[in-house]
Amino acid sequence: MKKILIAIDGPAGSGKSTTARLVARRLGYVYVDTGAMYRAMTYKVLTSGASPADEAAVVKLSRDTRISLVDGGELKVMLDGQDVTEAIRSEEVTKSVSLVSSYNEVRVLMVEKQRQIGAAGGCVVDGRDIGTVVFPHADLKFYMVADIAERARRRQVELSGTGVDLPVEQVVQELKERDFKDSTRETSPLKKADDAIEIDTTNLTIDEQVEIILSYAREVAVGHEEMQRK
Ligand code: CDP
Repeated sequence: MKKILIAIDGPAGSGKSTTARLVARRLGYVYVDTGAMYRAMTYKVLTSGASPADEAAVVKLSRDTRISLVDGGELKVMLDGQDVTEAIRSEEVTKSVSLVSSYNEVRVLMVEKQRQIGAAGGCVVDGRDIGTVVFPHADLKFYMVADIAERARRRQVELSGTGVDLPVEQVVQELKERDFKDSTRETSPLKKADDAIEIDTTNLTIDEQVEIILSYAREVAVGHEEMQRK
């Protein structure tokens, strides 16, 4: 079947990454976690001692940074040759990532890289601006949403798995702040593309989310095949 490109956007904790990763596995596609790229950039800023608020310094650093995603079963995130897969999930990175990713020049560099990876098709790409900016002509676009209480519960469980226990009120607050920053920034704000299919995951299991996307994907891939045969 023809290899298509699937874009998945949505706010934090809506289930994008888990779903995107599993859909990619099932289809034998590459999973592209664009949030991980912005997180890696943020990690570099923090460890280099620059302030995330210093746009000029962040942009300068970003020009001299190599970020790659190695998808071999588990997705590995490499920053200048170093494996930062776990380090980029820290609270410090999470707190600063929205600011670092709001800088236009940082985005231009990341988007260029994302387009290179996606050019061959056969990808599931997740983020905030994939269907709107990075791949406006994606074969399939999804926008995942979920109630804030459910998103916070998921994030709390995820954090607790890494040994960080936070009260749910704090998780709600942090998610709201990040959503606000991501959806109100000037460059490529988080928003649903007009032609994206919205999926509310509040009451869905991961398996159900994966199956919904797979059924659309099969339909589109088969449609492409038939068009080519005609
Ligand atoms: O997994 P989680 O929902 O926590 O977020 P993520 O996908 O790892 O993305 C982290 C942050 O990177 C987001 O809150 C955005 O600020 C930024 N981001 C972005 O600006 N554009 C993207 N395409 C992906 C992420």
